[in-house]
Amino acid sequence: MPSISFTRRGFLFGATAAAAYGAARAAGVESDGGRDESLSVFLSDLHIGNPDQKTAWGAQPSYQNAMLAKAVDEILAMRPLPARAVCFGDVSLWFGWSGDYEIAAATLARLEKAGIDLYVTTGNHDHREGVFKYFPRQRELTPVPGRTVSVIDLGSADLLLMDSLNEANPKEGSGNPVGGAMDDAQAEWLRAEAMRRKRPFIVGAHHAPTDLNGCRVVPDLIKSPHFIGWVQGHDHSWSNDWISENYSSRRIARKATLPSTGWWGDIGYATMRTYADRAELKLVQRDFYFPNPLKEGEQRPKLWDDIIAENRGASCTFRFG
Ligand SMILES: [Fe+2]
Repeated sequence: MPSISFTRRGFLFGATAAAAYGAARAAGVESDGGRDESLSVFLSDLHIGNPDQKTAWGAQPSYQNAMLAKAVDEILAMRPLPARAVCFGDVSLWFGWSGDYEIAAATLARLEKAGIDLYVTTGNHDHREGVFKYFPRQRELTPVPGRTVSVIDLGSADLLLMDSLNEANPKEGSGNPVGGAMDDAQAEWLRAEAMRRKRPFIVGAHHAPTDLNGCRVVPDLIKSPHFIGWVQGHDHSWSNDWISENYSSRRIARKATLPSTGWWGDIGYATMRTYADRAELKLVQRDFYFPNPLKEGEQRPKLWDDIIAENRGASCTFRFG
């Protein structure tokens, strides 16, 4: 049974959510205004662009901003509400401009106003100062000073959300290497935390565990019987997979890659629900486009719909024990 809790903030819905709530009631869907402690929403690769920001290539595109707003509308219409939303990085479009974060923070604040806890980590298109400035709770939450790390209770399992940004220059408007990294302080914290864990945990980061600039953490994570998998963003392509460390053991863990909320590739988000014996990540795919949505008069490639059809109902089970 999902556990439902009530929060005062849970009753402070925004106008759009209130409309969605009204529509849900009209459709006969009952809601108690509570939130489900076992239900989370995972968002990644938001790539929010301030359209007033000019770059060498002209004004930043912003069609993806509306796609995030749509995802937020859908999350606010869920009954019960998910207890938390987790952003797996690339909040900013390309260069971590403050204006990008301002729009992202305003859109995501609607979740918090409805009583949904929000956690944000960085991707290669972010700057840490921008994330800390516009999502100030992250600075209070992190057990690793200066990094956007969170320990998140998912219900019957935990998510250790790491910061895999390899930041070349902290100045907004500058670019970073595409690949990730994990510094010694974070890697040491993660290794120690993995050994301390008393119940199942998933590690989350923008990048894959094989894309951390030579830092290898899986050999140590997998020594913990409670490590059940890795969730990442970055590729904009849903996948469920598994990882192992050697051929002398049957020990494996799951790995899943999240879609982008609206920039390119698989478009959507995922829900994560925890049970007594497992956690289940379910893809919610809303579209596919590459490298951007169709312009008026363009023919939609059939392959895009093949990909959506193949992904329909996709999930990834993180089995405990
Ligand atoms: Fe991305």
